[in-house]
Amino acid sequence: MENILIEKQDNFAVVTINRPTKLNALNKATIEELHEAFTALNTDNSTKVIILTGSGEKAFVAGADISEFADFSAAEGAQLAAKGQELLFDFMQNLQTPVIAAVNGFALGGGLELAMSCHFRIASSNAKMGLPEVTLGVIPGYGGTQRLTQLIGKGRAMELIMTANMIEAETAKSYGLVNHVVPQEQLLDLAKTLAAKISQNSSVAIAKAIEAINANFEDGVNGFEVEIKNFGACFATADFKEGTTAFLEKRKAVFVGK
Ligand code: COA
Repeated sequence: MENILIEKQDNFAVVTINRPTKLNALNKATIEELHEAFTALNTDNSTKVIILTGSGEKAFVAGADISEFADFSAAEGAQLAAKGQELLFDFMQNLQTPVIAAVNGFALGGGLELAMSCHFRIASSNAKMGLPEVTLGVIPGYGGTQRLTQLIGKGRAMELIMTANMIEAETAKSYGLVNHVVPQEQLLDLAKTLAAKISQNSSVAIAKAIEAINANFEDGVNGFEVEIKNFGACFATADFKEGTTAFLEKRKAVFVGK
């Protein structure tokens, strides 16, 4: 992998986008590498949580790599968005393994869209977030118009996208865009503490919860029905047997993730 670093620790992995001289801008190769990395980590039963962050102290990801699409035609632009959504943004949102975005600086355009595709976000106090695409004469194409609206509401999303303003981490927290804000030197520690807590729980139940929560945002899908189906499916898992038995025996459950 040329553009990303993968570090495995205990039950989780830290994936770092590593193009600091370009503020970790997302080029085609990085998108493909992230797809490959997430595919592999998702099938590795020992990885219970993935933390996604950017290298350096300045940026999470400063957007899609503008130099790669500046001369695209309309058809190529549509293809860029479709391929990116399929390989990375939709793919990551629907991953069974939880992905936490640790937003350590600028998260702009495709960078904020990437953070919004993660299952939830935490940020360092120096983080700045926005969707500045209209300053380039384009709109967000990696799901930004949809996910920002889902996360912060229509009026705020309209304003942020129309003005191209960046918001500070604390504002992002007050909007519900990020869950926690900490000084930059504490960001990865917090991500790892959350990952450790999540990894103690049943990963098979967590995967079913992710699917049910995501169903709330899918057209034509009844989330309550998905919840009923997934709730029922949990009863057939070894983790359910272990979790309920451990509770009744007054001991800590040891889950196998099946
Ligand atoms: N695509 C390609 N390259 C990018 C990039 C992007 N989205 N964002 C930053 N870079 C590159 C810069 O071109 C520069 O490269 P260079 O040193 O080879 O010239 C390098 O990263 C550092 O960026 P620079 O602009 O010099 O840093 P800054 O501190 O002055 O400004 C930002 C930081 C984030 C405000 C500014 O880089 C920026 O506005 N980036 C684009 C944000 C954007 O519009 N994103 C949406 C894309 S859809």
